[in-house]
Amino acid sequence: MQIIKEKAALTGVISTLKSKGFHIGMVPTMGALHEGHLSLVRQAAAICDVVVVSVFINPTQFDKATDLDNYPRTLGSDTSKLEELNLNLIVFTPTAAELYNDNITSEHFQFDGLEYEMEGKYRVGHFDGVGTVVKKLFELVQPDKAFFGEKDYQQLLIIKKLSQLSHHPVEVIGCPISRENNGLARSSRNERLSPEIRLEASFIHETLLKAKDKFGTESVNQITQWLENEFKGHPYFKLEYFEIADSEGLKPVTKKVGGKNYRAFIAVYSEDIRLIDNIALNY
Ligand code: PAJ
Repeated sequence: MQIIKEKAALTGVISTLKSKGFHIGMVPTMGALHEGHLSLVRQAAAICDVVVVSVFINPTQFDKATDLDNYPRTLGSDTSKLEELNLNLIVFTPTAAELYNDNITSEHFQFDGLEYEMEGKYRVGHFDGVGTVVKKLFELVQPDKAFFGEKDYQQLLIIKKLSQLSHHPVEVIGCPISRENNGLARSSRNERLSPEIRLEASFIHETLLKAKDKFGTESVNQITQWLENEFKGHPYFKLEYFEIADSEGLKPVTKKVGGKNYRAFIAVYSEDIRLIDNIALNY
């Protein structure tokens, strides 16, 4: 495993690999690595000759300064976890000044309206930040394939769109959500939950599973009202949004149409800790 901090060193290594015909995979992360991230790296390494894992806390995608300040910085343990995988990896860990050429601002993107739904409504500017950094990473690494988690399903669709819009499209591959034993979707933010609340947080996935059960027989309105009621007065979790949307355009759905795939999306607060999850409803 090689650790690289500078863009010039990275592009040098990449061009050597490309000249040898190596198939390059990429897994962008913000560090604080957990089993969810590692599952992406394993999936990438299973079908690519070498995998570039970026560990970079991207300042432009945080809508709240406190969230950026609170984001865990654990580069030492991140690189140990990656080393233990014993795979052919390059870890890219630039500083913000290096990656952004001292100009830490976002480009503005249009992602066919995907950027205005759900996370886009509640985290203004977030997807411009994500698009900016992923575009930079793709341009540097020029991967053949890039791996993103369905945990951030909206982000996955946006990156697919970003790739389609680019001159050098990358094959963007979605990977299943990795969950803790109680069903809670793995997230670096889970570390900030108390052990008691972390166990109670099984409630989020359990509620999504029940919504999926209901989807066959109940209307979208009925399910939404039922779910909002479940969260009303909940001692630990405050619902920010629950939405049932079509899996491609992410447009909120009021009436189901045959032949379409649907997904339910949820964002929940436990005090100041924001948790998101989603589930396929009919596929
Ligand atoms: P981060 O939150 O570190 O996530 C990196 C990748 O890991 C994303 O593709 C995310 O969807 C995936 N991931 C996180 N938790 C997962 C889980 N429980 N199961 C499966 N995959 C999971 O997402 C970002 O960073 C950033 O926005 C980034 C794309 C790196 C741009 O800065």
